[in-house]
Amino acid sequence: MNIVIIGAGRVGLVTGSCFAEMGNNVTVIDIDENKIQRLRENIVSFYEPDLERLVRKNHKVGRLHFEIDLANCLKRVKAIFIAVGTPSNNDGTANLCQVLEASRNIGRNIKHDILVVIKSTVPVGTSQKIKSIIQEELDKRRVGISIEIVSNPEFLKEGTAIKDFMNPDRVIVGVENEKVQKLIDELYKPYRIIYTDIPSAEMIKYVANAMLATRISFMNDIANLCSLIGVDINMVRIGIGFDSRIGTKFLYSGCGYGGSCFPKDIKALIQIGYTNGYAMQLLQAVEAVNNNQKTILFDKLLRIFENNLKGKIVALWGLSFKPNTDDICESPALTLIDALLKAGAIIQVYDPVALEETRRHFGNKLYYYTNMYDAAKNADVLLLLTEWKEFYSPSWELLKKTMGHSILLDGRNIYDKKKMHLNGFTYIHI
Ligand code: UDX
Repeated sequence: MNIVIIGAGRVGLVTGSCFAEMGNNVTVIDIDENKIQRLRENIVSFYEPDLERLVRKNHKVGRLHFEIDLANCLKRVKAIFIAVGTPSNNDGTANLCQVLEASRNIGRNIKHDILVVIKSTVPVGTSQKIKSIIQEELDKRRVGISIEIVSNPEFLKEGTAIKDFMNPDRVIVGVENEKVQKLIDELYKPYRIIYTDIPSAEMIKYVANAMLATRISFMNDIANLCSLIGVDINMVRIGIGFDSRIGTKFLYSGCGYGGSCFPKDIKALIQIGYTNGYAMQLLQAVEAVNNNQKTILFDKLLRIFENNLKGKIVALWGLSFKPNTDDICESPALTLIDALLKAGAIIQVYDPVALEETRRHFGNKLYYYTNMYDAAKNADVLLLLTEWKEFYSPSWELLKKTMGHSILLDGRNIYDKKKMHLNGFTYIHI
């Protein structure tokens, strides 16, 4: 099938590459000429495991193309996916500028019947708005064609996006009528497709993320209580997780959730509540607990160093908001680094792939290392912020020799308390 994807970001590029891998003929377009030029050279501007391989392979065999101008790639196209960003406005509402501009662009250029698929995360009612905008543009040009709209939210996790696309738990498709289902079935043939109406599909995306974020904030809240009363949150997590009604996933307490989705989607859902005269009290608490959680490691540092971090050497392992991505958007590391800089600490950082992103953000205010042990050199304390695999079994002997003081703050609870004490470390966890 001939498909166009508008937006060469994390969602658009993964979607495009995977559809090409499934045998479709895909053109990914983006207004960023530099990005498109680099993609034509098979260079992906962010880190996502396996993505560059898929881009290279499908580009080479001629199933994946990159364009700037939508008008150039509409011939025989059956479906156009809108996969552009919906960042937060200052008040927390979703900014729909890119989505609406993409819709106008479709309306100005399309000449035949088309299916428009909304992948971007958008508030309920937006898909209808998109349809109206396209129709307005068609009316201006006096073009009488039929536009079908479906809402098809993505559930891709950064770091496992390709796997998630190829093995989805489910594919949600909100439709206006049954006519379009044949095309959707053809696109997503091997997968479990759940058809809903359009508003439900739009809402499902927000609710899935809100539920997951709620689990995390709930566990973080409980972890903070556990640490006050001498209970190990890890044992509690295991104990409740084997209740099949609760399940074992997304129960890990840590230094807070981040990323390009949870924080913005929670804010947007709270705002949807306000707009409709309803206060989403639980989600407000989820957000507040998470904001607090991002400051917990700094509070622990203040306690260790008796409120004086000036000149202290603080080593950080892991900067991205989670492993297997270079995305530092809303990462707990950013909140901690801001506080440490204010307190006058010397900050030495290491991350397997997010160093460059971090350098773009903080410039020469930090010391960057490409080796995890070098980053810990002479450190008064080491903090683990992201649970990359390579941090699970370091050489404790080497670390002890390298560091100034053997103090470790574990922001993701990945080490064993007893073993760390045997290794000779002062070990503090969440
Ligand atoms: C999320 C959704 O999972 C995905 O379906 C949606 O399409 C986009 O948003 P992503 O942002 O890639 O995906 O990250 P995810 O793996 O969901 O983790 C989000 C945050 O929660 C991370 O900061 C992670 O460290 C944190 N987290 C996750 C925890 O603190 N504890 C957990 O148990 C799980």
